[in-house]
Amino acid sequence: MTAPVFHVSTLDAVDWLRSMPSESVDLLVTDPAYESLEKHRAIGTTTRLKHSKSSSNDWFAVFPNARFPELFAEAYRVLKRNTHLYLFCDAETMFIARPEAERAGFRFWKPLVWDKKTIGMGYHYRARYEFILFFEKGKRRLNDLGVPDVITVPRVHRGYPAEKPPAVSAVLIEQSSIRGELVADPFMGSGSVGVAALEAGRCFTGTDLNPEAVRLTTERLRVFAPDAMPDAPAREPEQLGFIDTRP
Ligand SMILES: C[S@@+](CC[C@H](N)C(=O)[O-])C[C@H]1O[C@@H](n2cnc3c(N)ncnc32)[C@H](O)[C@@H]1O
Repeated sequence: MTAPVFHVSTLDAVDWLRSMPSESVDLLVTDPAYESLEKHRAIGTTTRLKHSKSSSNDWFAVFPNARFPELFAEAYRVLKRNTHLYLFCDAETMFIARPEAERAGFRFWKPLVWDKKTIGMGYHYRARYEFILFFEKGKRRLNDLGVPDVITVPRVHRGYPAEKPPAVSAVLIEQSSIRGELVADPFMGSGSVGVAALEAGRCFTGTDLNPEAVRLTTERLRVFAPDAMPDAPAREPEQLGFIDTRP
């Protein structure tokens, strides 16, 4: 039997990507703490961080829109040729992120919709969906051309702020990678992308500025890969692979 490997870090997303070798990642799935989340917080559509000794404030830090160019430039560099990038965001951020990603070299295909099945808070038409922007570097065929562009999975209640269900990322990972490939998330939060990646037999590498997020992710991923090193500096991709756990 083989167990997948993960590693996590507390570096800033862009610094962390800069620390990685070029063309070393097979798939990037990420959910940045984009600026307009502040509005969702103000109207109560996302939860607060739970208090713990390691969390210094109630909300996670926001990633300014002005930093998208450096984020996409680094994302493009670390992705191998013929790979995909998925970016969770809202309608407001979609119009800011799309042209910046295209400037970095990505081809934009379309927004996918995560349908949360039930309405959330809000004022004008209560929120039931989020977008997932689908980008490509080079050319890669999706593994299953019959999968629809609406992914219906119930939201996570009382989880990490803006937590995504692993079942949503599972669709993206199954579509755009194969077993043993490396999935990366520079804004990993509670580690939902990591859970989906390891469940599907992929390797995972991620970072988050919030130590509480790194603790949570490590706790969740250890179940799949008990020998993997948490909180380690970015490793050479050759060091990531499968641990052979045969007796
Ligand atoms: C929307 S949450 C991600 C939630 C995640 N998808 C999940 O399912 O739990 C965004 C995360 O980005 C982190 N973050 C904000 N600015 C960052 C930065 N500059 N570098 C790395 N992480 C950052 C926050 O701490 C937060 O955990």
